[in-house]
Amino acid sequence: MKTLIVANWKCNPVTFKEAKYLLISIQKIKSLARNLEVVVCPPFVYLSGLQNKFKNFKLGAQNCFWEEKGAFTGEVSAKMLKDIGCKYVIVGHSERRRYFLETYEIINKKLKIAIENKLKPILCVGETQEERTKGLVAKILNSQINIALRGIKAKDGKQIIIAYEPVWAIGTGNNCLPKDAQQVRLLIKKIITQKFSRVLANRLAILYGGSVNSSNGVYYIKEAGFQGLLVGGASLDPKEFIRLLNSIQGKLLR
Ligand code: PGA
Repeated sequence: MKTLIVANWKCNPVTFKEAKYLLISIQKIKSLARNLEVVVCPPFVYLSGLQNKFKNFKLGAQNCFWEEKGAFTGEVSAKMLKDIGCKYVIVGHSERRRYFLETYEIINKKLKIAIENKLKPILCVGETQEERTKGLVAKILNSQINIALRGIKAKDGKQIIIAYEPVWAIGTGNNCLPKDAQQVRLLIKKIITQKFSRVLANRLAILYGGSVNSSNGVYYIKEAGFQGLLVGGASLDPKEFIRLLNSIQGKLLR
């Protein structure tokens, strides 16, 4: 299985010129291992303009709507994303849940439409600080994953990628310790085994996200067994992002 590094640019940068510069700069990485897949998720408005600037990185989106088309002002459908060349789509990021009140029922619909359109959905799950303090991690993850995957068939399950992103670790510099993240990775595998099968749980790519940078990223893969990373802040700085990719290629893949 390929190691997957997903750059989530969020609502950045503020001009297309900067977006183009950022994409071109990160693709200046000297070499990219064959078993490393890098996905870049820019804001919607830049997707079509950047699409032909992609060389060996893959195009992803940060969100999608659950209907194909129609009177839904302001929305962008999975079909449109597929048409513009997206391979991946992030679904259920905690910022969408927090600021746009997305529920796991909504996320379930988005997952289904992404799968229908042959996009690989990256389903984000994770607890808040308060939930962690109260010992609710297993309960929260169980319900987040089970509701999000409701009605999804096992044959489609293997298209899904799950990203464990503890809410308290996102954008705070307070990354989850790899050994704690590993426990949650194993919990996610258990939930998937119960829902589908052990075979599928073993094949599923589980990523870690939350204050990942070039100094800590490799430990989630090497020590905690994650198949990849979801990177926010560190993906906006070309030098830092290349350092991160190289740290992973250097320590792991060679
Ligand atoms: P961060 O964001 O790396 O800036 O913490 C990660 C994410 O939200 O996907």
